[in-house]
Amino acid sequence: MTRGRFIVFEGIDGCGKSTQARRWAAELDGRFVFEPGDTELGAQLRTWLLDAHFAMGPRVESLLMLADRSHHVTTVIEPTLDQGVDVIADRFFASTLAYQGYGRGVDLAELRAATSLAIGSCRPDLTFLLDVDVSVARQRGASRQDDRFESVPGDFLERVRDGYREMAASDSDHWAVVDGTLSEEDVASRIREVLAERR
Ligand code: TYD
Repeated sequence: MTRGRFIVFEGIDGCGKSTQARRWAAELDGRFVFEPGDTELGAQLRTWLLDAHFAMGPRVESLLMLADRSHHVTTVIEPTLDQGVDVIADRFFASTLAYQGYGRGVDLAELRAATSLAIGSCRPDLTFLLDVDVSVARQRGASRQDDRFESVPGDFLERVRDGYREMAASDSDHWAVVDGTLSEEDVASRIREVLAERR
């Protein structure tokens, strides 16, 4: 049986990736998944990760994200791909590199090594970066600045955005950058073109 395709949507909070990920899971008749928190164990990890009361260092944050991801890969993502079903993910390992690495300063090489420990060879076939300016994203998300990540001040999100752009530019075979300031329909059209080109 042909293995399913693993397609990931990434970007800063408010870029529109969750909307597109859900839409494409439906269009491709695939399975929608998300991180952090898509399993029973992950849901517990997510409450710890997003609860502003737990001040945790960036390494702890990384390790909890990776624990969530490791469990997600072995219990959901790999078995679904093995059944020949496409997996459409709202965030995957690039989120940890962008937020904890570029954003919070964890060493990127160490994070990549820890990522390999967590997910082995399970890598996306294609990752879409929905790229938006931080000010646009902040405006869109102004009503929900309620978790630890969304309320971080200063240029944190600028570093995260720059990190995403750098990762996409350095591996264009596996990434496609789409202008996330376009309308939902226009973003979807662009994604349709890329999916057709990279079949
Ligand atoms: P997400 O569920 O995408 O946000 P939302 O609830 O707004 O849809 O992600 C929650 C937060 O977790 C988000 O600010 C990004 C952050 N995050 C990391 O910092 N590292 C990671 O590895 C992941 C998966 C998420």
